[in-house]
Amino acid sequence: MMSYQMLQSFRAVILTGGSSGIGKSFIEHVGKLHPALVFFNLSRRPPEIKVPGLILRHFDCDLSNRAQIEAVCGELVGEIDREIPAGRILLINNSGFGTYGPFPEPNLARQLEMLEVNLCAPVQLTARLLPTLRAHGGAIVNIASTSAFQPTGHMATYGASKAFLLHWSLALSEELRGSGVHVLAVCPGPTSTQFFRSAGLDRSVVPDSVGQTPEEVVETTLHALARRRTMVVSGWKNKLLAALSSRLPKPLAARIAIRVIAHYRGTGGKTNA
Ligand SMILES: NC(=O)c1ccc[n+]([C@@H]2O[C@H](COP(=O)([O-])OP(=O)(O)OC[C@H]3O[C@@H](n4cnc5c(N)ncnc54)[C@H](OP(=O)(O)O)[C@@H]3O)[C@@H](O)[C@H]2O)c1
Repeated sequence: MMSYQMLQSFRAVILTGGSSGIGKSFIEHVGKLHPALVFFNLSRRPPEIKVPGLILRHFDCDLSNRAQIEAVCGELVGEIDREIPAGRILLINNSGFGTYGPFPEPNLARQLEMLEVNLCAPVQLTARLLPTLRAHGGAIVNIASTSAFQPTGHMATYGASKAFLLHWSLALSEELRGSGVHVLAVCPGPTSTQFFRSAGLDRSVVPDSVGQTPEEVVETTLHALARRRTMVVSGWKNKLLAALSSRLPKPLAARIAIRVIAHYRGTGGKTNA
């Protein structure tokens, strides 16, 4: 109920990665709750969403390409100026992927691409859209991960990219306090999406009792937004693990995490391209 009321204050959602997983669930769930919302999606594939009457505009954008992001931001700001004269705007930096294996597997180019998508793209998008968000009022949601709470050997670059996103998000939240733009970092744990396959991981190594559905992550996000939280870990088991991990000395947390992650089985991987 509280989430529903909070959503009504928004007029538009700009999100990345609406073509799959958590992003797709977000469009489907929120589109049903608030059919008048206008969605702007940035990803390489268009979202296939079956919600009658949904207003969705897709921008083809490879978020590892800064020039493409720059061009799309120009179009996006122009479109919002023309079509959304008033009303709060929600920006969701959701696109991201991981890789599994000892650094730099699968290869250096893939590691650098991951940093572009997981970390540089949210920074660039947020910077370019911030004047619009300030003018309209609104919120920024950054999809981090429970990987942000400890160093993650065998997923070293991925975990560090999410630690960056979490700290950056919390710092931004303080800078923007009182500005009319609320910032929230969401930390999901293992969630049943394409994430595992694209990281070259076998999803079955994560017991179902631990994993969440993307819909549960979306619900958590909406609740946290309504409560004006600045950070939320999705699911009580993940909350517990994140709290424990944060309290350990970092070298010890790293020692434990690499052993846990080493149990993941590689599937040979599917590149996200
Ligand atoms: N699933 C989990 O267990 C889990 C846990 C913690 C955090 N997360 C985070 O949740 C977020 C969403 O992931 P998901 O679980 O929903 O995985 P997913 O189903 O694999 O979706 C990933 C999304 O990212 C987009 N993306 C990837 N590379 C891109 C690029 N170069 N340019 C534009 N978009 C790109 C994909 O869109 P296109 O392929 O169409 O471009 C896709 O929509 C990610 O940031 C991930 O790190 C996931």
